[in-house]
Amino acid sequence: MKVNKVCCIGAGYVGGPTMAVIALKCPDLQVTVVDVRKERIDSWNGPFDSLPVYEPGLKEIIEKVRGRNLFFSSEIDIAIDSSDMIFMAVNTPTKTEGVGAGMAADLKYIEACAKNIAQVAKTDKIVVEKSTLPVRTAEKIREILDNQGRAGVSFEILSNPEFLAEGTAIQDLFKSDRVLIGGDSTSKGKKAVQALVDIYKNWIPIEKIITTNVWSSELAKLASNAMLAQRISSINSISALCEKTNADIHELSKAIGMDHRIGPHFLNASVGFGGSCFQKDILNLVYLCKYYGLEEVAEYWHQVIKINDYQKNRFAQKIIDGLGGDLLGKRIAILGWAFKANTNDSRESPAIYVTKKLVERGANVKIFDPLVSLSTIMRDIEDYKIDKDACSISSNIDECINDVELVAILTEASAYKDLGKELLIFDGRGINKNAKFSIGK
Ligand code: UDX
Ligand code: ADP
Repeated sequence: MKVNKVCCIGAGYVGGPTMAVIALKCPDLQVTVVDVRKERIDSWNGPFDSLPVYEPGLKEIIEKVRGRNLFFSSEIDIAIDSSDMIFMAVNTPTKTEGVGAGMAADLKYIEACAKNIAQVAKTDKIVVEKSTLPVRTAEKIREILDNQGRAGVSFEILSNPEFLAEGTAIQDLFKSDRVLIGGDSTSKGKKAVQALVDIYKNWIPIEKIITTNVWSSELAKLASNAMLAQRISSINSISALCEKTNADIHELSKAIGMDHRIGPHFLNASVGFGGSCFQKDILNLVYLCKYYGLEEVAEYWHQVIKINDYQKNRFAQKIIDGLGGDLLGKRIAILGWAFKANTNDSRESPAIYVTKKLVERGANVKIFDPLVSLSTIMRDIEDYKIDKDACSISSNIDECINDVELVAILTEASAYKDLGKELLIFDGRGINKNAKFSIGK
């Protein structure tokens, strides 16, 4: 089956960049990205310098394809009905209430999306799960589509998890290590899988496109993220031991990573991982294991989160100790608010947790991150109940580090590498040679 039009529900960090690259690589395909948040769509249609998602290389692609075969629209129903294939890239946060609160993924946005498709679709559709979802979500989506869809309209559901990392999304999409497509083994299922393979094969070598059953695909995504996060917690746990001994975590990472069976990536000790995926996906995995009675497995993965919390707290405590244990009236510069360099996303950022702890101990903080908007930082301060009178936001680095007792480095942005000797620097990323304290040293 040839797909001519696709739409993507959800114009966020996954939907925006992924659809931009699909539109670029498949000029004959018409791609429409829709979202319930009108201001987000307006901003995708607005000036190229203030797109809602910052990713190196994204703006240049949008300049090429927007209005050619990539469209951003708030007309969700029209886009759904006129598309052959619909990607779901809506948010799936951790549940805050009800069964599984604090653990399971909240599927209300996915369910709303499926209902919307069921109500609107007048012709057969291929529905593709892009968001990370708990295993067997496809079943739930199928239930909604089959029960609420119009008579005579049929749906095929595919799982096609996104593996891009923020900050390198465009490169990751151009040169994916693999593309994973899960589908049913019925003849209609196979045709749907092939239709999606045909899109990706425009730029991904065919041997890197793996097809599996739906459940393997869903679980592979959760397990991949869990194993990546586990590497970080592993190296971070060792960083604590390095600080007690005379070992240096950077030397260890190099020595460990040169074993080709382990590999050099994802061994950077840090203040802890953040971002919208790792914690959420592991909690999801833990919840699934508990649901199936696999207590030991659940506990094993939960430990990855516990070490991450330990690491964030440990870094904040180092700062408190470094300032003599009393932060009342002390001024601290926070360099980096996003969860890592090269992104404007601050979801689950360690900087938020560290700042909260420092402010609770009486410090005044000055925050600098050139990519994160003032409104996002203000929203985080409010959401995490940090005393806003103790926080100020700097628009340039010099102003931020001026007249403070301590400078804390929270992301690995290159601008923080060469800060001078005259400052008391606590480095949560191990990038600054002049730091008084550096994680794992
Ligand atoms: C992650 C996965 O990498 C990606 O495949 C998946 O699709 C989504 O989740 P992302 O969260 O965007 O991507 O960024 P990633 O580069 O994985 O970093 C996650 C966190 O781990 C960041 O806070 C980062 O600073 C931290 N990290 C990463 C480390 O502390 N040390 C490392 O060695 C690598
Ligand atoms: P991600 O990082 O997974 O892309 P984001 O929160 O950045 O997550 O983006 C998800 C987007 O999906 C949001 O912009 C949100 O408004 C949108 N969304 C959620 N539910 C729906 C829905 N039912 N219909 C359309 N858009 C939706």
